[in-house]
Amino acid sequence: MAILVTGGTGYIGSHTVVELLTHDFDVVIVDNYSNSNPEVLNRILKITGKRPRFYQIDIRDEEKMRDLFIKEKITDIIHFAGLKSVAESVAKPDLYFSNNVGGSKVLLRLMDEFGIKNIVFSSSATVYGVPDHVPLKETDKVGGCTNPYGQNKLDIEYLLKDYASAHSNANIAILRYFNPIGAHPSGLIGEDPNGIPNNLMPYVTQVAVGKRPFLNVYGDDYQTVDGTGVRDYIHVVDLARGHLYALRKLAEKPGLVIYNLGTGRGTSVLELVHAFEQANGLKIPYQVAPRRPGDVDENYADCIKAYEEMGFKTEFDVVDACRDSWNWQKNNPNGYK
Ligand code: NAD
Ligand code: WQD
Repeated sequence: MAILVTGGTGYIGSHTVVELLTHDFDVVIVDNYSNSNPEVLNRILKITGKRPRFYQIDIRDEEKMRDLFIKEKITDIIHFAGLKSVAESVAKPDLYFSNNVGGSKVLLRLMDEFGIKNIVFSSSATVYGVPDHVPLKETDKVGGCTNPYGQNKLDIEYLLKDYASAHSNANIAILRYFNPIGAHPSGLIGEDPNGIPNNLMPYVTQVAVGKRPFLNVYGDDYQTVDGTGVRDYIHVVDLARGHLYALRKLAEKPGLVIYNLGTGRGTSVLELVHAFEQANGLKIPYQVAPRRPGDVDENYADCIKAYEEMGFKTEFDVVDACRDSWNWQKNNPNGYK
């Protein structure tokens, strides 16, 4: 019985692999390293004492993926592999569709062919589009995505729903992540973006390490506590743990289930900056810049369903995440390079 983790050397994948190995799951990773680095495998070994089996394959390569499925006895899949830059998806919509939706289709075909019943999919709060209220519940309307990346996530959710309708024995957990931040407390694995970070926390840590002079705070006139955007920041180790809860849920044969993975608490940009300063005894210079197109005032999760149905709740808060993000960045100023 092995768990196939697609995208397992990426940010969330690597933290999930650590949790899986720590709980004695047999893990097989597939990744094409398009947004990750082989060094991750050494770091996973350092943390857990185990080296998962690894295949460097693009999941769209159906023949190579078939060979993998012939070789390994896969019972469950956790599907992280995908491209995730909102801005890049606007510039390269075809690439995003082919990689994200096309890659997921290959996996579903092979699941069918090899009789694999269980899959956990990395979806995103982005499927809720522009929310008309918070907190967001799994039953709230989805759609109205403002970029191809978000639309890909929704397309894949629909593919999974169709697959579930056609396969009565399939068990599918769609996990809608809110904003993952933080790093493993060891400081050995963490988020390693290419180029200028799009997301808030890696930008803050790069300011802290001296790579960027100041943070741009995109807008201070939102309808929020201090005018800056509010999001639900979940520690990546909590998010990783959420996948083990989802696997346990799938073992109960629930069919298709959908869960938000967040904390249920909103934090503004300036609150996050101040939490970072307080946690690490550092000053983060910032300037208020114009709003970023497509950003919403507030976005945070209603997490009751994941708690009631899987017993999942977060253990870390934003201050823990700020400490762990900084620990990772200061020990690895150039990421894995
Ligand atoms: P990441 O880029 O760090 O990890 C994704 C991994 O997938 C990378 O290692 C990349 O090399 C690999 N990959 C991409 N395309 C591939 C392909 N065709 N074949 C094989 N490997 C491929 O991203 P992450 O932050 O760890 O995100 C993991 C998943 O969670 C993604 O699907 C992402 O869309 C989703 N998600 C992320 C966030 C976030 O803010 N980080 C939020 C919601 C959802
Ligand atoms: C958070 C807040 C910004 C950078 C994105 C994707 C979403 C999901 C998670 C994958 C906002 C502000 C940011 C900066 C800033 N990914 N900000 N200065 O936009 O909530 O979500 O990542 O599924 O799909 O859209 O996250 O970290 O980019 O921004 O002021 O340099 O920080 O305006 O209010 P976002 P983020």
